[in-house]
Amino acid sequence: MRIVMIGTGYVGLVSGTCFADFGHHVTCVDKDQSKIDALLDGRIPIFEPGLDELVAANVASGRLDFTLDLASVLPEADAVFIAVGTPSRRGDGHADLTYVHAASREMAPHLRDGAVVVTKSTVPVGTGDEVERTIRETCPDLEFSVASNPEFLREGAAIDDFKRPDRVVIGVNDEHAEEVLQGIYRPLTRNESPMLVMSRRGAELTKYAANAFLATKIGFINEIADLCEKVGADVQDVAKGIGLDTRIGSRFLMPGPGYGGSCFPKDTLALLKTGEDFEAPLRIVESVVASNDSRKRSMGRKVVQALGGDGYGKTVAVLGLTFKANTDDMRDSPAIAVVQALQDAGAKVKAYDPEGMEQAKAVINDVTYCENAYEAMDGADAAVIVTEWDVFRALDLKRAKDLLKQPLLVDLRNLYSRTEVEREGFTYVAVGR
Ligand code: UDX
Repeated sequence: MRIVMIGTGYVGLVSGTCFADFGHHVTCVDKDQSKIDALLDGRIPIFEPGLDELVAANVASGRLDFTLDLASVLPEADAVFIAVGTPSRRGDGHADLTYVHAASREMAPHLRDGAVVVTKSTVPVGTGDEVERTIRETCPDLEFSVASNPEFLREGAAIDDFKRPDRVVIGVNDEHAEEVLQGIYRPLTRNESPMLVMSRRGAELTKYAANAFLATKIGFINEIADLCEKVGADVQDVAKGIGLDTRIGSRFLMPGPGYGGSCFPKDTLALLKTGEDFEAPLRIVESVVASNDSRKRSMGRKVVQALGGDGYGKTVAVLGLTFKANTDDMRDSPAIAVVQALQDAGAKVKAYDPEGMEQAKAVINDVTYCENAYEAMDGADAAVIVTEWDVFRALDLKRAKDLLKQPLLVDLRNLYSRTEVEREGFTYVAVGR
């Protein structure tokens, strides 16, 4: 199968590379010359464990290549995946489909008969219809299909998620598109990943519903964590106690500083807009969004409270800046709100992140960026773990205590047990415990 992947962001690059690894011939296309130059040069523009080796192996095998020139590669393509960004539109929170529409217009005159155009980007219900209309306007006689194949991979675990998915969702309105997509994913049937075929609109909505449900789970356990603190219970016990009920499930019940990243914040907002447009208001999702927004700020205030209610004259070591571990992504990271709240309270911030500092510098100002956790803690009044990086799971607490002005650890990811930290003479503040 010959595949063209438009967009070399997280989803496009990982999907394209994995399709090549399945044995297909894949060309990844992007408009960003610096990205394509980097990829042709063997450099990966994002941090994703294992991706550099997988790209290199598939480039070497001749199954994966990169180009700026979309028109030249389309006439051969059996399937064209659209994996461009669909950010939140400024002002109203709707998904901004500018790049999806641009890609549809641009590809139309070069598609061959029988081509299947697949939206892999997260797109609102009905976008497939729009893509179809756009291509039809340019090429009234072309035989083509438009399908939806949402991607559920997580950053930091992207390759494994792609190759061993809980399910593959295929949204099609015709048999030819179904056949082509089944063919593309055939290698996965070996791992018994269920292939779910449904309507295009069903597939488009499934992606938003999945993200909104997961965001709800996190929002729910975060509020239960707050209640645990008030009533003197341990949220870890409660999460386990409910999670072992298979109807609930134990994953995605980790309390923390609020969800961030490239998907949950924008997709929950876009789903709310779809609900409004179709007069089916989504009150639960609305509450989740509001709860998560206020949570991020309140986590900064939690630190200030631990410092005695005032940040003036104090310095805080922030450990971890990315929205979660194993990524360099700062998009909607809770760290942004936490640092802001600390600075608003008058505190100075020193920070360290294993992968995200370059990205952080673009969105967080007036912070002293450090080489490692210990440099950040040197002379600080408190250490705050914001991201659950492995390097923060086994800090040398004796060394940390010597470096800090006072032994205060605020653990917004519950990486430590209270006894082990208090044994070292620390004041320990966690989430929901
Ligand atoms: C998410 C979805 O998981 C994925 O299926 C979809 O394709 C894209 O969006 P991602 O944003 O990469 O993936 O990260 P994920 O691991 O899901 O975490 C999202 C946010 O939720 C992070 O900020 C994370 O810290 C937070 N989270 C996750 C929690 O606070 N608690 C949890 O139990 C799980």
